[in-house]
Amino acid sequence: MSPSSDLKPEVTVPRHIAIIMDGNGRWARERGWPRLKGHEQGARNVETICEACIEAGVEYLTLYAFSTENWKRPAHEVAGLMMLLERFLSEKVAMMNRNGVRLATVGRTQDLPGPARKRLERAIEETSGNTRLTLTLALNYGGRDEIVDAVRSIAAEVRSGGIEPQKIDAQTIAGHLYTHAMPDPDLLIRTSGEMRLSNFLLWQLSYTEIHVTRKFWPDFGSEDLFAAIADFQTRERRYGAAEENPVAS
Ligand code: IPE
Ligand code: IPE
Ligand code: MG
Repeated sequence: MSPSSDLKPEVTVPRHIAIIMDGNGRWARERGWPRLKGHEQGARNVETICEACIEAGVEYLTLYAFSTENWKRPAHEVAGLMMLLERFLSEKVAMMNRNGVRLATVGRTQDLPGPARKRLERAIEETSGNTRLTLTLALNYGGRDEIVDAVRSIAAEVRSGGIEPQKIDAQTIAGHLYTHAMPDPDLLIRTSGEMRLSNFLLWQLSYTEIHVTRKFWPDFGSEDLFAAIADFQTRERRYGAAEENPVAS
């Protein structure tokens, strides 16, 4: 157990945590259950992790919920995931308002099925006044598509004379990404042991600290989140500079 009271208050708590919520299918398979049962349990876990983030003082939580590649899954699994999304959005607005959670989204959400899209818009609207935690769901999200969309909108501004090509810099690009209104993640957590990004936040994760746990997402509890934050607190973020306290210089 690693309660939040064990976190070192003098050391920075990550302002923004991003999570690749992986392993729902394997969690269900271990029990001989259909994959959708794993997704159901995974969706339930979101509330626990939101509340743990609030307890720890995290300001932004970004969850990879459905990638642009996840459409490759069998139609019944995709339909089940969309149904769970709708259910989450209709059932959890009360929890979000109780906890001060503002919902946001990144991804090509315009291509989500109509009912899920409408629920999403409504939940975003109904939680827009909250300020404790910004919960961003990455839905129909792909890091490469996000960069493509940014390039298209910058190109359109160049054509209309709004931007000069030689003035385009990293800030211009960051300002045209879906995430333009939030800081880059400080900590990326991936559950279920895979060591890959799977097309998540390719631009934003440049200098993010990475924590991979073997636990499947439905088993990832508050204590695991606090352990990941404690791990983050042991890291020295150098951003390419020399080490701060070298033994010998
Ligand atoms: C993550 O769990 C949920 C989504 C990608 C929607 P998975 O469904 O990928 O679970 P595994 O990786 O098959 O165990
Ligand atoms: C990444 O998990 C996407 C989400 C968690 C939504 P996947 O299970 O889809 O990734 P791969 O296929 O193992 O790379
Ligand atoms: Mg997976």
